[in-house]
Amino acid sequence: MSKIEEARELLEKNGQAHIKVNNEELAEQILKLDFNKIKTLYSRLNKKIKFENVEPVKAINPDKLPREQIEEYKQIGEDIIKQKKFAVAIMAGGQGTRLGHHGPKGTFKVKINNTDKYLFEIIIEKLLKAKKEYNVYIPCYIMTSSENNSETVRFFEENNFFGYPKEYLKCFIQEDLPLLDEDGKLILGEDKKIKLASEGNGGIFCSMKKNKIIAEMKRKNIEWIFIGAVDNLLAKYVDTLLLGLTVSQNTKIATRTVIKSNPCEKVGVICKQNNKIKVVEYTEIPEEMRTAVNEDGEMLFGESHIMCNLFNIKALEIASTNKMKYHAAHKKTNYIDNNNRLVIPKKENCYKFEKFIFDSFELFDDITILRGKRAEDFAPIKNSEGQDSPETAIKLYEAYITKKA
Ligand code: UTP
Repeated sequence: MSKIEEARELLEKNGQAHIKVNNEELAEQILKLDFNKIKTLYSRLNKKIKFENVEPVKAINPDKLPREQIEEYKQIGEDIIKQKKFAVAIMAGGQGTRLGHHGPKGTFKVKINNTDKYLFEIIIEKLLKAKKEYNVYIPCYIMTSSENNSETVRFFEENNFFGYPKEYLKCFIQEDLPLLDEDGKLILGEDKKIKLASEGNGGIFCSMKKNKIIAEMKRKNIEWIFIGAVDNLLAKYVDTLLLGLTVSQNTKIATRTVIKSNPCEKVGVICKQNNKIKVVEYTEIPEEMRTAVNEDGEMLFGESHIMCNLFNIKALEIASTNKMKYHAAHKKTNYIDNNNRLVIPKKENCYKFEKFIFDSFELFDDITILRGKRAEDFAPIKNSEGQDSPETAIKLYEAYITKKA
């Protein structure tokens, strides 16, 4: 049987015969799909997530610690970096749909104090600053997607890796999953191939394993890995305080948070459920949890996850061998219909399935939570305008570097 015939049979067997296969490329793509997984994801769509037995978590507020203690923690972190036991991983496989930038989000340009800078460039500047301070090039691993990998690699090459030695920068590609329409059917994209999308930032663990990044880290005796987003101008990728504090608290994972600005802010919040660490995404948080306050009127579930995560290498290994759940997002996507016409939908028409990095937290009994400050730690670029846009993020970042200068 030819590949084309094989693909047609597979589609027929799995209720996807609306996809007409007439070339080898498409056939090969179809033969690689995991139809059981696709069916399971769609069948779980309307499953309600239960939030019973949730309780708030305790964060460490550095403002309440003595100065000497903070210095001690920072020293511990610094020593780990100097011993070359620390690496950074950047999650850059997202599609940045809300921002609407053409190309990988890290190639988005912002004007900082009248100078144009790319998001990737700002990250590299932070690593170069660490090199100056600790005399160590910190290995940096960048997770890309099959959609944006070649563009990301080309971008770094064209920009001469922004002065970072290229042997310390490595891109690896995360896994994809098909988008499904509202009836659970596969979708054809403008390139006449099945429309795929990266499987969420929680895909970092299995992708690191598959691409032998964890093995490489172990070979290099790396013990601690900071995993952060590409789009937070204020992210501290080389966070000596978080590192030293985590080592002192003897936990295998840690995160830096900020307090939610208001109950409706679109961030995930950290809590405990049945003694496991959990982050409840803003799209899934029940009203009573969102609005719960203590006797002083402070939000009970206000500790927000801002994608600043620290993992011990052992924790990475554990997370990479465990199955993580998928969350479904209702999205808008262009597609080619059965009459071969391009359709640009006006409202959400598909489901995208994503793993979230913070779902790995529940694999561990304990976590170190360090409370940061919005003005110093969180300037995300999510939307093209309004809240969490380039404009708001640049303002925060400029104010921070001016204050530091
Ligand atoms: P978001 O979930 O905010 O996604 O990513 P996004 O791609 O930036 O934007 P939208 O939702 O499409 O508008 C948070 C971080 O996780 C990364 C992003 O690149 C960003 O650094 N991410 C997201 C991945 O690495 N892979 C994914 O599949 C999704």
